[in-house]
Amino acid sequence: MCGIIGYIGGRNASQIVLGGLENLEYRGYDSVGMAVTDPARDGTDIRRAVGEVSELTEEYDIIALDGTTGIGHTRWATHGSVSEHNAHPHTCCTERVSIVHNGIIKNYEEIAERLESHEFSSETDSEVIAHFLGEQLRNGTSLHDAIQQFAVQAEGTYAVVAVDTETGELFGFKHGSPLAVGIGDDEYFIGSDVHAFGEHTQDVVFLEDNDYVILDLDGPAFHHTEDGPVEKEITTVDESAVGNGKGDYDHHMLKEIHEQPDALYRLQESLNRSQHEKVERFVELLQENNKVLFTAAGTSYHATLLGVYYLQKAGIEAQTLISSEFQNYERVDEDTLLIAVSQSGETRDTLDAIEYSQERGAEIASIVNMPHSAIQRESTVSLEIQAGKEVAVAATKTFSNTVLTLLHLAVAAGYDGQIGNISEHMRSVIQENEPRIQELAAELADEDDMYVIGRGSTYPVSREIALKLKEVPYIHAEGMMGGELKHGTLALIEDGTPVFALVPEEDDEIVSNVHEVEARGGNVIHISPYYGDFDIPEDRDAFPLYATTLGFLLSYHLGRERGCPIDKPRNLAKTVTVR
Ligand code: F6R
Repeated sequence: MCGIIGYIGGRNASQIVLGGLENLEYRGYDSVGMAVTDPARDGTDIRRAVGEVSELTEEYDIIALDGTTGIGHTRWATHGSVSEHNAHPHTCCTERVSIVHNGIIKNYEEIAERLESHEFSSETDSEVIAHFLGEQLRNGTSLHDAIQQFAVQAEGTYAVVAVDTETGELFGFKHGSPLAVGIGDDEYFIGSDVHAFGEHTQDVVFLEDNDYVILDLDGPAFHHTEDGPVEKEITTVDESAVGNGKGDYDHHMLKEIHEQPDALYRLQESLNRSQHEKVERFVELLQENNKVLFTAAGTSYHATLLGVYYLQKAGIEAQTLISSEFQNYERVDEDTLLIAVSQSGETRDTLDAIEYSQERGAEIASIVNMPHSAIQRESTVSLEIQAGKEVAVAATKTFSNTVLTLLHLAVAAGYDGQIGNISEHMRSVIQENEPRIQELAAELADEDDMYVIGRGSTYPVSREIALKLKEVPYIHAEGMMGGELKHGTLALIEDGTPVFALVPEEDDEIVSNVHEVEARGGNVIHISPYYGDFDIPEDRDAFPLYATTLGFLLSYHLGRERGCPIDKPRNLAKTVTVR
């Protein structure tokens, strides 16, 4: 994963890079670092620290670093431990080039062997990029040829931002990891995504694989490693997609849960108006293709399970598979529609499933939160879930908006669903139930294992709630089909074991599974309009959204009770750009 940023212009680069790193922190927060330089002077100031961006500002007077060109990195460790010497930027031992990298260079050892006169100082795969480029430039190779040579020799994925300390040029190149260039007034930005610099400019050029850009004060020069100079289109991105604040909330996660009523309303409006034609085209694709497959990871995968459920109600046969296993289990051909679902639109495993399907002639559609993302760019038709920026690593409002998009599609394809006033109902679900959820979190704060059971449309919900319980309060949780309990897991139910039962209808089949748990002394907590303590509207089709939201709130408040770092759970990152 990792977030990278670069700046060249007339302002204090360290301040801009620091702001960019704060905005990119959701991509990784194991370590952080920056390099600042100036065309007018030799050398580069480098500062690195283990941990979050705040560690860098606590250890160093970053703003005092002098220079108008800078690069920065926030790391999610893949190769090499979490330590200061493995933190980026990495610099060639000739000191000519400093780099920051997102991705994995698979053959880094092989490349390093050819750089035998170079001294390496980290255990990362990334450091080899700095030495490779430094060696080339020292030998008089042009920057263009050095980048092209790298593209020929490197295997794996990379988005690299680098600075040549001799010429003061900032440059970036990519293959398989995202990189975007921001065009300001006489100043230029480059980063993993628009959040890196969205507060400074919304005019963006998205680089494609094997594109590279050289930036100096005269502006960007775009090239392709095989095609030479290329013209790139400037896209103006929506400002609301890059906003970042926590408002009056203590955490982004809570703010994002509370944003759901507005986000759902905005989405409904757009599906009925500005995205209406895309919905129609999507439905045509659903009906034209023999085989409909979803692919996604994590929370997005749970949303696709609901997509399969809703489409089946519309008479459309569909399946879903976690994207990292897609190639092991799925066969696709020219009659297949692949629907990739992704909040970030950048998830590597999902992009791999797309590439695999494209090679076999499948049609690609997608549902994403991030406009202009790689997954959207690979799609014939792509619906946007309009949830706005999600900062907390744990996905919440984007799950709800994805599910509503899928329900809307199923209804457009012929399902006689009941959506109701979902936005207002969601508002009352949050308002009416949060106090009880807080009490429950206090009661359950010392529990280490929890179970969530559902059937039909609530099975995906059980999986999603269990994921949030793991991710945010670090509680071992399993989400499962109620009917499966008796086939093994029931052995784990003891006196007082918390089991959340998702019961959307009064005489739902799950009620008998609830009795099985109660008979073994389990502590059953109903999430239901009919049983238990919660106040939930009787909207059959929207129940999964309300139930999941109670699970989001519970995970949040349990996280607070247990003192967890809610917005940035350990070992995780929001945008997963590695395999
Ligand atoms: C969990 C979570 C992750 C993501 C997964 C896929 O709260 O956020 O499980 O859902 O990494 O990410 P996207 O949707 O960006 O493809």
